[in-house]
Amino acid sequence: MTQPLRILVVFGTRPEAIKLFPVIHALKADPRFACTVCVSAQHRQMLDQVLEIAGIVPDHDLDVMQPDQTLDALTANLLTGLGRVMDEVRPDRVMVQGDTATAMAGALAAYYRKLPVDHVEAGLRSYNIHHPWPEEVNRKIIGAMASLHFAPTATAAAALIKENVDPTRVHVTGNTVIDALHWVSDRIAAEPALAGGLAELESRFAGKRIIGVTSHRRENFGEGMEGIASAIRRIAERPDVAVIFPVHLNPNVRRVMNGALGGLDNVALIEPLDYPHFARLLNLAEIMLTDSGGVQEEAPALGKPVLVMRETTERPEGVDAGTARLVGTDGPRIVTEIFTLLDDKDAYEAMARAHNPFGDGRSAARIVELLADEIRHEA
Ligand code: UD1
Ligand code: UDP
Repeated sequence: MTQPLRILVVFGTRPEAIKLFPVIHALKADPRFACTVCVSAQHRQMLDQVLEIAGIVPDHDLDVMQPDQTLDALTANLLTGLGRVMDEVRPDRVMVQGDTATAMAGALAAYYRKLPVDHVEAGLRSYNIHHPWPEEVNRKIIGAMASLHFAPTATAAAALIKENVDPTRVHVTGNTVIDALHWVSDRIAAEPALAGGLAELESRFAGKRIIGVTSHRRENFGEGMEGIASAIRRIAERPDVAVIFPVHLNPNVRRVMNGALGGLDNVALIEPLDYPHFARLLNLAEIMLTDSGGVQEEAPALGKPVLVMRETTERPEGVDAGTARLVGTDGPRIVTEIFTLLDDKDAYEAMARAHNPFGDGRSAARIVELLADEIRHEA
């Protein structure tokens, strides 16, 4: 019998954990693979929330997170720490997801050991190295080293091929975030208490129109965050509206948002929600206002209009489909866009169409079969 392929899956932040748990579940259920999980813990609490609901116990945990960490110190720690784990585990292949510092350093440490790198969510491009920063460059670096490129959409695959990546190494798989969303929705359907913790807010805001907000992008720190906060203050003056805003643990976000929005009647600034509760918020919200990558993918899948507080996006599919709109971080512009959706039924209906350009919920299964093909070619 051939030995199972030994895959080391490396991740460190909340979105990577959400987008990789379906793949880890599939790898662990498949005897063709031996899957080892290494978390950098670039995030701590927000990572642990996902590990817990997904039932994943890491084999290695570098626990690198420092308060208000700088990109250079973080990257240096990640590179040496992940390299040490690779030397110990000696995997056949290394899998990373997306564009975080952990993904970039994990790919680089693997490349330094001549280990093939499998890149989940490959080929996203905004074509602006400062938006999102530093993610646009991180994913280009990973793309330069990857062995298999799992592109979520045809647009992402085309971007890689335009960069002269061998087309036979690029596969359109859909985005695993849709697998994760389906999985968590099924869990909530079977056990509603998993998402029951918002009940108090739901009754406090009964009859109001809920706007869900998330924000954390580094390129929005400073002026951008101030613009976002001023917009939310203005929106929350409307008596028919309530804002539910789980505030990212990055101190640069919390300082501004707590200062500008704390104590407002119509604004609930709450701690980061675990994934079932965030899925509940996505369902409760009439509109999502966000600078998050993942939320841009999830909201269209649920037919929720999403206003994206960025200048550019590497996820044009939602904008092209009409469910997402780029609104930047200028306060008055955000207010105008939200008021249009609240007050113009046609404008709202035009955006509120369930649309799933990002995947069908079977991406993890496709990725696993593509990896199995790889074993057959190598055998
Ligand atoms: C990181 C990723 C970004 C991703 C985002 C998802 C990089 C460079 N950035 O940004 O691509 O979109 O995660 O959320 O990889 N913190 C905590 N507890 C946590 C998480 C964060 O206290 O569980 C605080 C810490 O003070 C930490 C800071 O947030 O130093 C920043 O975390 P970091 O991972 O460097 O950056 P993010 O802004 O979260
Ligand atoms: N999310 C969550 N709890 C929250 C906010 C977001 O579980 O309080 C989930 C959300 O559903 C999405 C992911 O976190 O899947 C997005 O992560 P984030 O916005 O931190 O990072 P990005 O996607 O921008 O890299």
